[in-house]
Order: sequence, then C-alpha cells, then structure tokens
Amino acid sequence: MSTPTDKPAAEPGVCPFTGARAGEGVPETPAAPAATVDATAAAPAARPAPRPKAAGSNEPRKTLLLTGASRGIGHATVKRFEAAGWRVVTCSRHAFPEQCPWGAGPEDHIQVDLSDVDSTVAAIAEVRERLEGGALHALVNNAGISPKGPNRTRMNAIDTALDDWKTVFQVNFFAPIMLARGLAAELTAAHGSIVNVTSIAGGRVHPFAGAAYATSKAALAALTREMAADFGPLGVRVNAIAPGEIDTAILSPGTEKLVAQIPLRRLGTPDEVAKTIYFLCTETSAYVTGSEIHINGGQHV
Ligand SMILES: NC(=O)c1ccc[n+]([C@@H]2O[C@H](COP(=O)([O-])OP(=O)(O)OC[C@H]3O[C@@H](n4cnc5c(N)ncnc54)[C@H](OP(=O)(O)O)[C@@H]3O)[C@@H](O)[C@H]2O)c1
Repeated sequence: MSTPTDKPAAEPGVCPFTGARAGEGVPETPAAPAATVDATAAAPAARPAPRPKAAGSNEPRKTLLLTGASRGIGHATVKRFEAAGWRVVTCSRHAFPEQCPWGAGPEDHIQVDLSDVDSTVAAIAEVRERLEGGALHALVNNAGISPKGPNRTRMNAIDTALDDWKTVFQVNFFAPIMLARGLAAELTAAHGSIVNVTSIAGGRVHPFAGAAYATSKAALAALTREMAADFGPLGVRVNAIAPGEIDTAILSPGTEKLVAQIPLRRLGTPDEVAKTIYFLCTETSAYVTGSEIHINGGQHV
C-alpha cells in the first residue's frame, strides 16, 4: 500500500487542493488570506458569502466536510464532489494556497492539526460557525498518517514508541469520532452520511504499513460499526471504505511487487476511491450503513 506521511508536502507552484498550477486559472474574486483555525485565536474567520443553489435545483447546495483534502484520495474527493455541485469544506495542516484558482476555496478551508486535541476542538467550533442553516450532509474522515522508522522501515509492534502510537491514533481514530460527535446535530439536521477511510492494513498484517497504523485502522473499522448503531436512529448513515494499493503521490518502495498478487493486476486510482465515497454520501446508498467497502482490486480475497 502507499504510505501516507505525517508531513505536509506540496510541489512548489502547484495547488495541493486542486492540482492546478499557478497561472492556470484565476479566481473570480481576489484570493483571500487563508482562514486559519488556531486554538488560541479569539476572532472567528470571516463568514462566507451566501451559497448559490445547486445547478438546476431549488435545493440549497449540499455541504461536505472533508479532512485530508490537500492531496491523494482527499484531493480526488474534493474534485468529485465539487463537480457534482457540493460545497466542500476542507481541512488539513496546509493553509489554503493563494495561487489556487478554485474560487470557493479559501473561505471553505480550515487549517487544523488533527494530531492536536485543542486544534481539533477549535476546528469543530469553526465548522459549526461556518455552516449555513446548521446542516452538514456529509463528513468524510480521510486524513490519515502512517509514519515510518529510520530509512523508511516498517514500525513494528515491538519498537514503535508509545508517543508515536498515540499520535497515529489521535489522527486516524480519535479525530474522526471527535468530528462526528462534535457535528452530530448538524449531521442529524441533514440526515447526513459519514464515511471513515480505513485500510486493507486494518484486516491483515501488511508489509509496509506499521503496527500503529494497522491497529488504528482496525479500530476505526470497529468504530464505524458502533457509530452506525448509534447514529442510525438519528437518520445518519456511517460507513467505511478500505483502500488497498492506491496510486497516491507517496508509494512505498516495493509496492510494484504487490501488484502481481492483486487480482486486477494494477494499482487503484484516487478517483476510483472518490467515486465510492461519493456513492456512500448520496441517495443511491440510502439503505447502506455499517458497511466497510473494500477498494483494492480484489487484494483481500
Ligand atoms: N493511498 C493508499 O494506498 C491508501 C491505502 C489504504 C488507506 N489509505 C487511507 O486513505 C486516506 C488518504 O490517504 P492518501 O494516500 O491520500 O494520503 P496522503 O496523500 O498522505 O494525504 C493525507 C492527507 O491527510 C492530511 N493530514 C495528515 N496529517 C494531518 C493532520 N495531523 N491534521 C490534518 N490533516 C492531516 C494531509 O494534509 P496536510 O499534509 O496538509 O496536513 C493530506 O491531505 C488515509 O486515511 C490513508 O490511511 C490510503
């Protein structure tokens, strides 16, 4: 599998949210400074302008809160939902880049470190502040980290430092439940949908994914079942997607050797994952909850 890192990374001059290069497009309005959530900041960010209605509809635009939007699967998910007319509120450690040509971006981005409890609490308050009408139609808990040892070695169950283990769990497991609980009223108001991004590593030992990462994803899969039971009576569906080897920017050396064992004999693409996330956030999956969908070309069989 690829190994999401725990460090911000973006190619210079390229918007990490849309992949567009500086100069490829210009926002209709001048880019605003990045809206930043800081646990110590007193003043809230400026409220966004009223949203347009969805194209061809009298309904207000639906809103998605997406963590880990700045690259990889999250980046593809932003584009998928945007194309369908959703408002996407993004979260990551990056500030929103000023060169980004995505017009609706800066005021819909929240800079947050999900490894930090206070920052996450502040971000939840900021999201609630920014939601018009108090309704959130989807929460996608996509941000994840999979740290490596020296020389990119796998961090195993014997050697992984407890602090590293806690940080991985804070981002991969506690942040998703903090966000879901903190936004439960808004999700209920919209009869919304939650998607937790787990991993094939949550169900079996993986050659590259570390022990902390794998156990955090297994816990997130179990949490998805618990959440489905508890949020279901509120009209909120909760599902997980478990990617296998997805072609994101950061693949572990040696991933190509795994491809020979995948029935479909190829890596998955971020867009293929984004399409399944979209399915789980829309009416098409109205009776699906408590599921974990494998997106791995048959790697789990
Ligand atoms: N790619 C795969 O093959 C694969 C396989 C199985 C599961 N997954 C799961 O799929 C999800 C996305 O993976 P990916 O490959 O797209 O990862 P990625 O390219 O490394 O992106 C990770 C995202 O998470 C954000 N992030 C990381 N740490 C954060 C923090 N402390 N606070 C806030 N945001 C943080 C990053 O943004 P910033 O750097 O700006 O903070 C980035 O947008 C993860 O949950 C991963 O475990 C991926």
